[in-house]
Amino acid sequence: MPELADRVTSEGAVQHRAGPSGPRVNLGCGPVMKDDWINVDGSHRAWLVAQASPLDRLLVRLGLIAPTAFKPSVVYHNLLKPLPWASGSIAAIYAGEVWEHLRYADAERLTRECYRVLAKGGVLRLCVPDGVEFWRRYLEIFAEEHATARPRRRPERLRRHVQMYFDDICTARNLIMSFGHFHKWQYDEVQLVDLMEQNGFTEVEREPFWVSRIAGIEAIERSDFLIVEGVKA
Ligand SMILES: C[S@@+](CC[C@H](N)C(=O)[O-])C[C@H]1O[C@@H](n2cnc3c(N)ncnc32)[C@H](O)[C@@H]1O
Repeated sequence: MPELADRVTSEGAVQHRAGPSGPRVNLGCGPVMKDDWINVDGSHRAWLVAQASPLDRLLVRLGLIAPTAFKPSVVYHNLLKPLPWASGSIAAIYAGEVWEHLRYADAERLTRECYRVLAKGGVLRLCVPDGVEFWRRYLEIFAEEHATARPRRRPERLRRHVQMYFDDICTARNLIMSFGHFHKWQYDEVQLVDLMEQNGFTEVEREPFWVSRIAGIEAIERSDFLIVEGVKA
């Protein structure tokens, strides 16, 4: 239940211990673009829409590319480079399913960059797939199949899980055309809390879906994976 001081929005999100007001950034926004956020993405499509929106629309009309959710207001930026804002100028940063697309050292650099651009009291909120859930499910399936008499075992259940790991998770490939589409790290609560604390954040805690200091988080938070939030003191 929300605490008394919590504010439940019309969408059902809970804003507790409200952070500062000011610009809010949605890093690695992908198709999740909301007008009152600064939406940032480094994909080639984001570049095309940001730099040449009429050309993008023409290519869509000609049936050469599929329609996109990116709008011309998208800020095209590669997160491997320093963030394009002045120190202390941003109130809140959200990144949904982005940090796992970076090598660990790059994630450390980006976390430090978030700390730099946030104002005092500003909030960083990261949502990533939870490695613990992945392996817990693997062990569950293993236990079920192992306890089954051999002729009735279904090893394909384990193979599907392992396949998902090698196809979507445990790959450091960095293809020119889809640099954002492969996971380069796997997080759990211990690692993610440590990453934020080691890079200056305080009050770092795991948070439930849509429970945040960031006003309006419900507009852009789509996944209830592992979510950790911290504050620049
Ligand atoms: C899995 S999508 C997440 C989209 C959205 N945030 C959501 O919650 O559904 C990851 C996004 O991060 C972007 N991305 C990954 N690596 C990036 C980088 N180095 N620079 C900028 N954007 C990056 C990708 O282009 C992609 O749109």
